[in-house]
Formats: sequence, C-alpha cells, structure tokens
Amino acid sequence: MTNQLSKIDIYLEQQENADLLRFITCGSVDDGKSTLIGRMLYEAQMIFEDQVTALQNDSKKMGTQGGDIDFALLVDGLAAEREQGITIDVAYRFFNTDRRKFIVADTPGHEQYTRNMVTGASTADVAVILIDASQGVLVQTRRHAFIVSLLGIKHIVLAVNKMDLVEFDQEVFTKIVDSFKAFASNLKFESITEIPLSALKGDNVIERSKQTSWYVGPTLLGYLETVAVRQSQIDHPFRFPVQWVNRPNSDFRGFSGTVVAGSIETGQSIRVLPSGEVANVKEIVLYKDFLNKAIVDQAVTITLDHEVDVSRGDVLVAADDPCEVSDQFEVSLVWMDQEKGFVGRSYWLKIGTQRVNATITDIKFKYNVNTFEHLSTQDLSLNDIGEVTLSLDKAVAFETYDKCKPMGAFVLIDRYSHSTVGAGMINFALRRAQNVHRQALVIDKKARAKLNGHPGRVLWFTGLSGSGKSTIANALEQVLHERGIRTYILDGDNIRHGLNKDLGFTDADRVENIRRVAEVARLMADAGIVVLTSFISPFRSERDMARSLFEPSEFVEIYVNVSLEVAEARDVKGLYKKARRGELPNFTGIDSDYEIPENAEIDLAAADLTIDQCVEQILKYI
Ligand code: ADX
Repeated sequence: MTNQLSKIDIYLEQQENADLLRFITCGSVDDGKSTLIGRMLYEAQMIFEDQVTALQNDSKKMGTQGGDIDFALLVDGLAAEREQGITIDVAYRFFNTDRRKFIVADTPGHEQYTRNMVTGASTADVAVILIDASQGVLVQTRRHAFIVSLLGIKHIVLAVNKMDLVEFDQEVFTKIVDSFKAFASNLKFESITEIPLSALKGDNVIERSKQTSWYVGPTLLGYLETVAVRQSQIDHPFRFPVQWVNRPNSDFRGFSGTVVAGSIETGQSIRVLPSGEVANVKEIVLYKDFLNKAIVDQAVTITLDHEVDVSRGDVLVAADDPCEVSDQFEVSLVWMDQEKGFVGRSYWLKIGTQRVNATITDIKFKYNVNTFEHLSTQDLSLNDIGEVTLSLDKAVAFETYDKCKPMGAFVLIDRYSHSTVGAGMINFALRRAQNVHRQALVIDKKARAKLNGHPGRVLWFTGLSGSGKSTIANALEQVLHERGIRTYILDGDNIRHGLNKDLGFTDADRVENIRRVAEVARLMADAGIVVLTSFISPFRSERDMARSLFEPSEFVEIYVNVSLEVAEARDVKGLYKKARRGELPNFTGIDSDYEIPENAEIDLAAADLTIDQCVEQILKYI
C-alpha cells in the first residue's frame, strides 16, 4: 500500500493543476465492482499492450467469462485476491479521459473490511455504490451508504448493475432506487444519482445503452467527468499545516507544507496557530519559482515579513478568518486494529502535520453499521465505529470534519507498534476544555516536601497475582515508617472495595482501574507522601501512562518478577485453582495477558529472595 500511495503522490505532483476526481466504489464481491472498474480502465484505454496480453492469458486461465476478457482480473491484482476470488485491500487506480483525471479507490465489500473502506473513502469526492439489480438493496448496501456518509462524501452514484439479468426492466430499477432513497434520507448526502447499467456488457458505463430507452440521465463516466467537486475546499479560508521549517542558510527561513484549503497571496496576513501570532506573507516559493498566489493542493514554502515562532505542526491560517484551537473533542472513530481500544488508554494522535498524545476519555456508543443503531460499549474492536471523546495533552488548531476535511481528520497511532489503530473525524470541540482552568495554589510541592523532610514519590509495584507485591510493599512501608517517612499503600484488593468497586477484570476495566490509581497516586505524591501502589497493572501502556504523570525521579517501577508457575503453586487465595476450573474468567496469566516490564527501575527476582532481601534491594535503590 505504501507503494501505491507514493505512486499517487507522484501522479498528483505531475498533475498539479489538472482537474482531478477521486472516487470510491463500494459493493460486494458479487456486485460486479471489479468488472466495472476494469471496464472503465479498459475503455479509457489506459491499459498498455503488455497488460492486455497478460489479461487475455489470465482470462483464459482463471477468468469466469469463458475465454472473453474478464475485467475483474485486471483489478483484482493482488495474488491473494485471485486465489480466493475476493478483493482484500484498497487498490488505487489512475486513469484519465479528455475531460478529467481520475483516481479510483477500489475497496472490498465484506463486513470485516470496514477499515479498508474507510481508508479508500477518506479522500474521495464521490462514492459509487453498486447494487446487483437481481438482488436489490442488501444489508451491506446500507453499511456502505452509512460509512460513505460518515466520511463526509456528499455525492453518491447509485449504480444499479447487472441490468442485463433483469431484462433492463425499468420497474425493477425504480423499486431499487426508491428503497435506497428511503433509508438514505437520514444520511447527509447532497445528491444521489441513480444509473442503470451493465458493467459486463458495457451498458451506460461509457456508451449510452440502447436497452434503456426509458433512462434519460447520464452514463457513469459522463457523470464522473462533469460532477462539480471540492469547491468548498477552494472557497474556504486559507489553511496551511506546516510540514517543516526550511532554513538552508541564515538569511532564509521558510515554512514548507501543502495548502489544504483556500489560497494565499503575497502581502496577505496570516495567523500562526495555536500561538495566534500574526505576520504578512513575503514570498511564496515553489521549487525555484516565486509565485504571487498558492492554491489548494500546492506544496510551497512561505516566508514572512518578520520573525515569528513557527514550528512543525503549527498551522498558518487567514489572519482575519482563523480556525479554533482546542484539546478536547467529540469525534467519530473507526477502530482499525486487532488490539481493542479502551477508555483511559493513551495513543499518539496525528492531525495535519501535528503529533500529540491523546486519551480516549469516553466511548459514548458504537454503531451497528447495518442498522445504524447505537450500542453501548466499553471498548472498540476491529472495524467498530464509535462516537468517543478525546483529551489531548496539547491544544491543536482544527476545524470540524464537516467544514474542512483536512483540518478535521486524524489518525490514532499505537505508541509501541507504531501502527495506525484508528481513523477519526472531529465532530466538535468540548467547551468544557475552555471553561475549566487550573487554579494557582500558594503552598506547593516544594513547601510540603520541606515540611515533611522528604519529597513525595511513587513506588509502583507490578507483577502477577500472588507474586508478593502486597507483602513486600507492607514490609517496606514499615521500614520507611520507622524512619519517619510519610507513606501510604494503595493496594488493588482494597481500592477495589471502595473507589474502584464498580470495576471488574475485563481489559477495559483494568485500564480504568490503573488510570484512577495513577491519578490518586499523583495527588498523594504531590501532597508529599511516598506512595506504594500494589496492582497487577498488567499492561505496559497504562504503566507508562502512570509514569508519564511524574518527574523521572519521582516514579520507581518495581517488577516483582515471579513466574506464573511459582505464583500458581503458591496460590495463596485459591484463585488460580478457581481460574483453572473455569470459574474465574479473565484471570491474569491464565486467560488474560500480563505484559512483562521492559524498563522497570527494579527487577526483583522475588522467588529466590526473602522478603527482607527484597526490601533491602529496594531501599538500596531509593
Ligand atoms: S489489575 O489487573 O487491575 O491491576 P488489581 O491489582 O487491581 O488488578 O487486582 C488484582 C487482585 O484482584 C488479585 O490479586 C486478585 O486477588 C483479585 N482478582 C480477582 N479476580 C481476578 C482476575 N480475574 N484477575 C486477576 N486478579 C483477580
């Protein structure tokens, strides 16, 4: 896919000023989607000789059209697709006619591939939703329409395919169109253009069909060549996320990036967000040329009339028409990872050219994408689409996705695997972010530490149930107490009887358990107390989140390193036996994960040490 994307970039660069339409085709394996795209490519004569030869050979070998050219083979380029006879990833195709250039995203129609469809639809101006005339509107048609609408595509072609199978009957066509429009009226489309066609026979794809004399609308290609798109982004106020600060020598300091909305001319004033500083545009540089004006999609370098503080990730906007800045949002989020998404877990969020930390603070609901129903949930699984709230550690310039796609679309990235786990669209900023301010206090951490004679700190014990966390913490606390140190133990079993009694042992609940404990530990350490936390805290992500709340010297992670075999053999509370009997689901080490710490300050080989030796080792460190 990386390969394909870079091909698109090259293509786009070459076609800088050409009229370009990006569209997506949605349909299931059997709707004839690949055949339709194949026919458009073929008839637009973008297939080179050798490809045609290969296609003819393949058609003979594997085609389903008995030796005739099977257009689906042209499109189903991936080996796995050919073998399985299905499409499994997003494929981008380029072609052009005299009137326009096209990029088509071809995505699979299976339910489990929502993620691919979202990827393909995120940049599309138009969606072609295919329906098999002999099947009518199916559950998946609703899903396709819903996702396309969620992604802000305003123009839909309802391509009623395989009309040859229903003798080009107008009544069949009208019934399908009416049934589609009935539910699509709840979605946010500006236009729905219905076209009866046969991709296989070529009717109304490029040539007007003699079989549908009752049809007076455009052919598919005719429509795609003329539909007006992207005007809203062109008429929009200027938006320019800064990709990098270009400083080849001391007299030149330019800001490079791509205009994502509006345009800018030399002499006009811009505002830098989030800082709000204002300056005038001195030069607009494209390679070695100086331009008077830069427009949407142009990658340029902008210089300003005086020094202002701009860094990568900032956004240059029209000074008199800036956008908002916020650090809390309600968003629509599509989950794209095998590993679930949880409330309380922190991810990298990439919006425009900016990367910040973000935490999911609430999952309001997820959609049943087939019925549009709202379902309550604690986590997001692969292909789920949810409405969630996010909290960022830094305010970013943004617009709602509805107003300006490039300023309102973002991705969430896993901090460890660096894979994209979610794609989102900003619905609105939460006002509470603007209305709650931190209160300045006179007595601070330093003053409290002075009074106590020692600073606050967190000793974070982690390890399997039965590893000895609580026993060691207890023994350690006694020694510290005797030395006049103010301490407190936050212990899993105790906290779960009070503050966290609403939480169980699902992954989602454990994430929330540790989030609350980390926040309480932070308050206590701030109060000047040495806090000993004793929780399994099985996930690296939450342990790192806890760590991130403290100064490096304040946080000590102590891994009570006892193997499952040893902990299970001890089985102080009899819980392992229960879990093995299947009476205790989600038990850590049995059917719930424990992620071994990689950077713990102290690794206690507790199975081979006495309690006193463990305490000794910790004291030595601190
Ligand atoms: S954590 O995973 O969320 O950090 P925590 O430390 O609060 O767990 O609680 C773990 C304690 O709860 C264990 O020591 C054990 O006594 C008890 N417990 C009950 N059910 C489970 C379970 N399914 N998995 C692990 N511990 C459990």
